[in-house]
Amino acid sequence: MQTSSPLEPVQVQIHLAERSYSISIGAGLLGNVSTYQQLPPANTALIVSNTKVAPLYAAQLQEALQARYSNVLLTTLPDGETYKDWPTLQLIFDALLSHGCDRKTVLFALGGGVVGDMTGFAAASYMRGVPFVQVPTTLLAQVDSSVGGKTAINHPLGKNMIGAFYQPQLVICDLDVLQTLPTRELSAGLAEIIKYGPIADMNFLDWIETSLDVLLAREPAALAHAIQRSCEIKAWVVGQDERETGIRAILNFGHTFGHAIESGLGYGQWLHGEGVGCGMVMAAHLSQRLGLVEKSFVERLRQLVARAGLPVKAPILSAQDNAGRYLELMRVDKKSEAGEIRFVLIDGPGRAVVRAAPDALVREVIDACCA
Ligand code: NAD
Ligand code: GLY
Repeated sequence: MQTSSPLEPVQVQIHLAERSYSISIGAGLLGNVSTYQQLPPANTALIVSNTKVAPLYAAQLQEALQARYSNVLLTTLPDGETYKDWPTLQLIFDALLSHGCDRKTVLFALGGGVVGDMTGFAAASYMRGVPFVQVPTTLLAQVDSSVGGKTAINHPLGKNMIGAFYQPQLVICDLDVLQTLPTRELSAGLAEIIKYGPIADMNFLDWIETSLDVLLAREPAALAHAIQRSCEIKAWVVGQDERETGIRAILNFGHTFGHAIESGLGYGQWLHGEGVGCGMVMAAHLSQRLGLVEKSFVERLRQLVARAGLPVKAPILSAQDNAGRYLELMRVDKKSEAGEIRFVLIDGPGRAVVRAAPDALVREVIDACCA
C-alpha cells in the first residue's frame, strides 16, 4: 500500500448531500490562510480550545483566521474528559452570547475529541445551529471524532448520552500538531486506527502491523497514510448511514466494553482510546466464544493492541460482582434495545456484525479478560 507525501495535502470527501464536506490532511495546514478559503463569509469566528492546546496552537489559528474574519475570538475550556459536561458546555454559550455572536458566527474546535464533541454540540444548538469547523489536534480526533458529525457531552450515568448529529463544514488534520501529543495519547489514537482493520479492511490491518513502529515514532508519511485510510473508511460508513440506524454501529467496535470501563472507573481514569483498545480485545474474545472468529485472530489483535502501548487486561470495576457491574454499565449504551445489550462483534476477519449475546457468555469473557 502506498503512503502519500505529508507535504502534499490530501482531501477525503464526506458525501452527505447538502451536508457534504472535506477533510484536509497534511503538514502546515492550521496556520495557512488558504486552508480556510472555502468557508462561507462571516464577520466573527469563535475558536473553542482548552488550557493545554490553546497555548500551543491558538495564536497560529487566530492569525490565519484574521485574514478572513474581522472578529476572531477565543474561549478556553478546562482540559479533560471530566469537563465534558453541562457546566463546561455553558461556557461556550456564555462566550457566544456575551460577544453578541450572530447566526453566521463560525465556531472552530481546536483540540482533541473532548473539545470537538463539545464545540459541535454547542454549534448544533446555538441559535438552533451555526457553522463549525473541526481542527482536531489529537490522533484520535483526526481519525475518528472530528469526522461524521457525532457531538455530545457525558452524563454521570452514561457516556456521550446527550448530544446531536451535526456535521462540520470542514475538517483540518494538520500532521505537525501530532508532534506535541503525549505518548499515551498517541497510543489512544492508534486504538481507533486499529479498529478500522477488523471491521472493514484486513489489508489496512496488515499495514498497521508492519508500520506500527514508524507510527509510534510519528513518521509523518506513515501518520498521513493512517489518517487518510481511517477517514476513507469512516467516510464510506457515514456516507451510508449518517444517523446510525444500521451499518454505522460497526464503528463502535470495542466501545461497549470500553465505555463501561471509562464510566465504571470514573471519566478520565482510562483514556477513551485505552478503553476502546481493551474493549476490542474483549469483543474479539466474545466473537470467538460465539464461534465467529478463530482464537488466532483474537491473539493477533491482542498482540497488536499491546504493541500499540494500550492495556489488554480489563480493570476490576466491582469487588462484589465485577461482571454484573460491567453488564449494568453496558446496558446504558445507545445500541441497547429494550435493556438488551448489543455488541459489535467480528464475524470473520474484516467483517463486523451487531448482535446480542447471552449474559453467561459475556460474564465468562469479562472474567477471562480481567484475570
Ligand atoms: P482529549 O480531547 O481529552 O485530548 C487528549 C489530551 O491531549 C488532552 O489533555 C488534550 O488537551 C491534549 N492535547 C490535544 N491535542 C494536543 C496536542 N496537539 N499536543 C499536546 N496535547 C494535546 O481526548 P481525545 O482522545 O482526543 O478524544 C476523546 C474524546 O473523543 C472522548 O470524549 C470520546 O468520547 C470522543 N470521541 C468522539 C467520537 C465522535 O464520533 N464524536 C469518536 C471517538 C471519540
Ligand atoms: N465513533 C463512532 C462513530 O462516529 O460512529
